[in-house]
Amino acid sequence: MKILTVIGARPQFIKAATISRCISNIEDISEVIVHTGQHYHANMSDIFFEELAIPKPHYHLGVGGGSHGVMTGRQIEAIERVLMDEKPDWVLVYGDTNSTLAGALAAVKLNIPVAHVEAGLRSFNRRMPEEINRVVTDHVANLLMAPTETAMRNLRAEGLPEERLALVGDVMFDASLFYRDRARQPSWFSGLGIATDGFVLATVHRAENTDDPARLCAILEGLGAAGRPVILPLHPRTRQRLSEHGIALPNHLHVVDPVGYLEMVWLEAACDLVATDSGGVQKEAYFFGKPCVTLRDETEWVELVETGWNRLVDTDAKMISEAIGSAQALPAQSVSLYGDGNSAERVVEAIAGSHPAAKEA
Ligand code: UD1
Ligand code: UDP
Repeated sequence: MKILTVIGARPQFIKAATISRCISNIEDISEVIVHTGQHYHANMSDIFFEELAIPKPHYHLGVGGGSHGVMTGRQIEAIERVLMDEKPDWVLVYGDTNSTLAGALAAVKLNIPVAHVEAGLRSFNRRMPEEINRVVTDHVANLLMAPTETAMRNLRAEGLPEERLALVGDVMFDASLFYRDRARQPSWFSGLGIATDGFVLATVHRAENTDDPARLCAILEGLGAAGRPVILPLHPRTRQRLSEHGIALPNHLHVVDPVGYLEMVWLEAACDLVATDSGGVQKEAYFFGKPCVTLRDETEWVELVETGWNRLVDTDAKMISEAIGSAQALPAQSVSLYGDGNSAERVVEAIAGSHPAAKEA
């Protein structure tokens, strides 16, 4: 069996690392990796392939930047050419980026079955580009692999047939378990002069937060007023918007370039609180037992809010600084919210044949 994996953005490299490792251990499954080029700077792409030992992509399509239509359209065109040459049995896509949508659409139009990892997540906010990508991908995919019960419920509520669904758990949880012993302190950390357990780790990159200068300023003001050191590995999109809008950074934010996953895991394990608008980082805060303040007014990972690990504060500067000041870690949950750490195996098994959707395709 040949699986063709389409990836292109930072969180997809991390998710793919666990599954590609699993596929490589199975003799009769081969994987062809296609990198769309959506993320292209070394610290947004190459570093993950090197550190996480992801096989080098067989194809690099070089399609990054541009508007949604330009990026997605060019990716579909380029992926289609590869699919026609490779003729895979399955196309595997992850998450909710433009690369996910492009991979799914290119495949389904060629009648190649699509498997979607991280299916069923919903923010119910159609202004988010990711929400459109998820909904469309789920509705064209043949095998929908949901990380949580909530995601399963969302898929059922949209009338997606039971035989296409599989609850597999979260591959990011697998990754956090596998890589936590390999975590690495960033070389610049000691130069900051802050305690290894006394800082807030923040990330901000979501389009709705970065593209609106008022929201971006409010987030920075809230982080700056928190009264604790904040380390902010800055996504290139955010850096670009700061410069376009001429927004100055508050002095006591420690802004650094994006870090590799091993350094990110070290920061998540060391910090005492996370403030983020990232989907993945919200969950990783929980994996590492850290309370999370989410810089959005809704989340796809609702179970973290329901259990008290995550607080949604939107982009209100006062709420952000107060939430950071008052956040407390909670005792670990007795029931695992994101599976047992073997989700990658379940994904591969589902594709390889144990799931009814695989037989039907
Ligand atoms: C994308 C995903 C988002 C995901 C995020 C993960 C979509 C619609 N969005 O958002 O769901 O959470 O990735 O990080 O697919 N840039 C660089 N270098 C890079 C990558 C990006 O400079 O290596 C800059 C470019 O100016 C680019 C901008 O960031 O135009 C935005 O990149 P893009 O991939 O369109 O969206 P993200 O904000 O990264
Ligand atoms: N991440 C990283 N370096 C950073 C910031 C994030 O390795 O500087 C990792 C993070 O640990 C998580 C993933 O990237 O595994 C999340 O990606 P991102 O926040 O870009 O996207 P989202 O999850 O919101 O789609």
